[in-house]
Amino acid sequence: MNYYNEKILPQLIQRACSSKPASKQREKVIPYAEGVVLEIGAGSGLNFEYYDTSKVQKIWALEPSLGMQAIAKKTPVSKMLDIEYLSLLAEDIPFKKNTIDTIVCTYVLCTIPNVELALKKMYEVLKPEGKLLFTEHGLAPDKKIKVLQNLVNPIWKRVSGGCNLNRNISMLLKGAGFYTVEEQMYIPGFRFYSYNYWGKAVKSSI
Ligand SMILES: C[S@@+](CC[C@H](N)C(=O)[O-])C[C@H]1O[C@@H](n2cnc3c(N)ncnc32)[C@H](O)[C@@H]1O
Repeated sequence: MNYYNEKILPQLIQRACSSKPASKQREKVIPYAEGVVLEIGAGSGLNFEYYDTSKVQKIWALEPSLGMQAIAKKTPVSKMLDIEYLSLLAEDIPFKKNTIDTIVCTYVLCTIPNVELALKKMYEVLKPEGKLLFTEHGLAPDKKIKVLQNLVNPIWKRVSGGCNLNRNISMLLKGAGFYTVEEQMYIPGFRFYSYNYWGKAVKSSI
């Protein structure tokens, strides 16, 4: 086991992801989850408190890091939530096509190495008209910030568990075939990592 990746990094990620602005973002999307939910890179379980227990049937919490899972399992959650963990990568989603009602991605599309493949799999397993709820940080629209993001990215990626600062989330979702209803803006924080994309990405009915 790599001590940094399994013990130290999960604590650092947990802290960074539990900021007030990020929590406000979670609050905007997670309550719309319904039916059978697949949460991608569920991390330390920071979304669990925002699920509407009256609408969610089951949550598959896909999370490859056992260190992140260990923190999530200590998080108090409603007894009404049926959560089952999958120690897998998003590139290896194990479900059959057209079986999932809602996919949740929060601050994870930045990190998945083969994000195009992972999104292709997500699109396949979603039911027609199924939705992918997201709040993600990514490529900023301003030229100077973009330059900074591209410059800092190689070092950032090395120390933050593979997180990329410069992914255009909107383009990635549309490239996978989704129709998106989304908003974008800077949330409080350093501009190079605080440009957020959030909303829902819908799979077409055909
Ligand atoms: C920045 S954290 C976000 C965690 C959580 N989604 C949140 O909003 O707090 C990114 C998470 O993605 C996970 N991850 C990394 N590579 C992944 C992959 N290929 N597939 C799925 N999850 C991955 C990491 O283990 C980590 O828990």
